[in-house]
Amino acid sequence: RLMRNTLRVGKIIKMKNILEAPFIKEVMLLTDVMYKFGWHERNSGNLSYLLKEEELTEYLDLNEVKRNIPIAFDGKALAGKYFLVTGTGKFFKNVIHDPADVLGILKVTAEGNSVDLLWGYENGAAPTSELPAHLMSHIARLSVDPENRVVYHCHATNLLAMSFSCELDERSFTRILWKMCTESLVVFPEGVGILPWLMPGTNEIGEATAEKMKEYRLIVWPHHGLYAAGKDLEECFGLVETAEKSATVYTLVQSQGGIRQEITDEQLSNLGKRFSVTPRAGYLNI
Ligand code: 13P
Ligand code: ZN
Repeated sequence: RLMRNTLRVGKIIKMKNILEAPFIKEVMLLTDVMYKFGWHERNSGNLSYLLKEEELTEYLDLNEVKRNIPIAFDGKALAGKYFLVTGTGKFFKNVIHDPADVLGILKVTAEGNSVDLLWGYENGAAPTSELPAHLMSHIARLSVDPENRVVYHCHATNLLAMSFSCELDERSFTRILWKMCTESLVVFPEGVGILPWLMPGTNEIGEATAEKMKEYRLIVWPHHGLYAAGKDLEECFGLVETAEKSATVYTLVQSQGGIRQEITDEQLSNLGKRFSVTPRAGYLNI
């Protein structure tokens, strides 16, 4: 079925197996790693990957729509764009075994009120319930970074725990993470955004996430999880992995009796200079 032959203007065009496409391979590999890090219990987490038409044409007949799926928000700003999106209720654990069950490739219709399913969701799935947060975040990220292609949501354990034990203040939360691991400031110099607790799967949380995405690539949804954005899934993974490492160290330090000495603000400032990154203004006491 995947090695489909398409008849067009009298010519047989042989489609390549989409499971060999670099973006599918990247997603299969990394969702497995992410699951094994413990960030994706059951169906938790979701991702969306903006695909270029030229990346798809050798694998899919883009005129062949399998299903049209309505969406309950205005996606017109993304009309004609293609996204690889995880299905609602689907498990990250299973992507590596059965990608066509968990993943779907969608095209946002011209009206922006529905998406056409071109591939995947083989057992009748629909896009993640967090599609509003994903698509709205893509619009926001593209407005500040034309290279952005991935939005990723997970339930990273120690960061989630910190949303209970730490003040939900972006500056103080970010400072804890920067100080728990020397690399953190270099990886996310803009810091970590934090939303209030909001109902998942709603346009409201989508709009709030997208607004934060104009300033941050990492956002904490308190008592729920994280959102990350990047040019590919690897970059999103690296962002979460680094922040989660700091959060894990913080958890261990607290369990060992608390902080005795730390990376100073001056050292953080020097790090920024050494690695040519600018720590978010006002976050260091310098
Ligand atoms: P979906 O299964 O709809 O993707 O939801 C998972 C999740 O983590 C909701 O925030
Ligand atoms: Zn979630």
